[in-house]
Amino acid sequence: MDYLILNNDQKIPSLAYGTWLINNKDASKCVQLALKYGYRHIDTAQAYGNEKGVGEGIRASGLPREEIYVTSKVMAEIKSYDKAKKSIDKSLKDLGLDYIDLMLIHCPQPWALFRGKNKYFKENIEVWRALEEAYKEGKVKAIGVSNFNIEDLQNILDHCEIKPMVNQILIHIGEVPVDIIKFCSENDIVVESYSPIAHGRALNNNAIVEMANKYNVSVPQLCIKFTLQLETVSIPKASSEEHIRDNTKLDFTISEEDMIKLMKLNEIDYGLISLWPVYNKKNRTKK
Ligand SMILES: NC(=O)c1ccc[n+]([C@@H]2O[C@H](COP(=O)([O-])OP(=O)(O)OC[C@H]3O[C@@H](n4cnc5c(N)ncnc54)[C@H](OP(=O)(O)O)[C@@H]3O)[C@@H](O)[C@H]2O)c1
Repeated sequence: MDYLILNNDQKIPSLAYGTWLINNKDASKCVQLALKYGYRHIDTAQAYGNEKGVGEGIRASGLPREEIYVTSKVMAEIKSYDKAKKSIDKSLKDLGLDYIDLMLIHCPQPWALFRGKNKYFKENIEVWRALEEAYKEGKVKAIGVSNFNIEDLQNILDHCEIKPMVNQILIHIGEVPVDIIKFCSENDIVVESYSPIAHGRALNNNAIVEMANKYNVSVPQLCIKFTLQLETVSIPKASSEEHIRDNTKLDFTISEEDMIKLMKLNEIDYGLISLWPVYNKKNRTKK
């Protein structure tokens, strides 16, 4: 298992198993499969409604707790210190864990107001204070953010004591927000790529299929490897055993020339998923 190093010197496994849209009932089985096939990092969130199932899967795996890295996220709609603090305690209870490895602010704004005029700078400082406190108390081992643009990150850097360790953002072939990645790298913030398979929309993209064929790998394998080679944490989701297993077979290297080709590829057609705020063109952060 490969790792990246956070700015608090802790290791974070580079390949994470994503659990968005896996319901609480199925989460235990899926997490057990993921751990069976070698994932050591599970990505969940309060908003996914599956923290209990994720916790059950972790315990049922029989693996020592310290071998598994667990990320969760404070709901996008929680924008006060008190509510954030309570929500972290609830996540710990629902997961049934003594500590969470990484806790993120899910989004700078509530989803209904994503990338709106109100940047929620003051509120995010409050939520961050609850995360800092949980970090100091050992309830969470690392803290970070998700979907933060440069201005959102700068707000935290300017006003808070502890620097974010992670920014989890949308990155996949055809969607590489180089400005944010560069800013994070300059500020020692590890970048995580969510939706590395473009929420499944990469599967039928001709240029990506062609490149995957060249390396004799599947489209998801190419997509995951692409985000790992960008030196980001990659968070693919899969629900079938076959997909969960295949997505860990990443023993190949994309050449530098092909990485550049893939970075320059045209935007992927999101179709109906562009109805979700994170895939909606007007909200995208790519530069
Ligand atoms: N912070 C945020 O705001 C945010 C936003 C979005 C996502 N995320 C995180 O990132 C994770 C991944 O993103 P995502 O769920 O949007 O999508 P994704 O990983 O980009 O793509 C998942 C889709 O690809 C399919 N797939 C996966 N492996 C496959 C394979 N080997 N062959 C064929 N199809 C395959 C899955 O199908 P099956 O399910 O049928 O296997 C599913 O339809 C999420 O689960 C979540 O943890 C975070």
